Amino acid sequence: MSERKPAPPPEHFNTGDMKRDWDARARACAREYILTGFADQPEGFVRSGREAAASLLAFCAPGAVVLDLGCGVGRVARELEAYVAEIHAVDVSAEMIRQAREYVGPGSRIRFHVNDGFTLPQLAVGSVDFAFSLLTMHHVTRPAFESYLRELHRILKPGGRFWFSVVSRDRSPAYDVDDARDTFTGRSYSDAELDRLLRGRFQEERRWFTQSGEGHWRVTYVNLVVGKLCEGAD
Ligand SMILES: C[S@@+](CC[C@H](N)C(=O)[O-])C[C@H]1O[C@@H](n2cnc3c(N)ncnc32)[C@H](O)[C@@H]1O
Repeated sequence: MSERKPAPPPEHFNTGDMKRDWDARARACAREYILTGFADQPEGFVRSGREAAASLLAFCAPGAVVLDLGCGVGRVARELEAYVAEIHAVDVSAEMIRQAREYVGPGSRIRFHVNDGFTLPQLAVGSVDFAFSLLTMHHVTRPAFESYLRELHRILKPGGRFWFSVVSRDRSPAYDVDDARDTFTGRSYSDAELDRLLRGRFQEERRWFTQSGEGHWRVTYVNLVVGKLCEGAD
């Protein structure tokens, strides 16, 4: 992982190709693109992973099978590994996964997978107790987000839960995102849109709001924990 803070890349390497763009960001400085401002703060980066893992632990019963979707360099999976039976960490970027293997070290039990950015073929029907996706679902295209909701419904066990966040359209300044080309700027969803996307598949268990960014980029995130509905659409 690079220790240097990169010069801001043109348009965050936007080419409209999630794999290529995130590989480029990972090569430039994974830490900076995972947590803005952390390029020069390796210890703060580790600490942030511990804090995030601590907040997820309430959802990880002993023996749990867990999925980290959009795992990056394994910032959070590394800290959660000791508390769960099995942990899968999936990312669209092969370069992120390469750096993640380095970050967690050779003794790790984490099972890393590079995927296509839409689907989770590595995971069997009804095999996961708890899935989480931190700082990721707002970056993915709308078709990818909808595809992941279908996939998560498929792979979660009955009673399984999914924790994620996106930008709240109702509480943030509206800015345009070119969904076909922009693989970085956060996608926003209204409450009504989220309800529609979740209906029939998931029931909401928790919803809370957090703020992030500065100036023009200050936005409100909507964070959700949803539980799998067993009679839902597939
Ligand atoms: C901001 S980083 C967050 C990484 C990690 N979740 C964390 O909190 O440390 C976003 C991650 O999502 C990955 N990503 C982007 N689009 C994706 C997609 N469609 N499917 C899977 N991973 C994706 C990127 O490669 C990157 O590693």
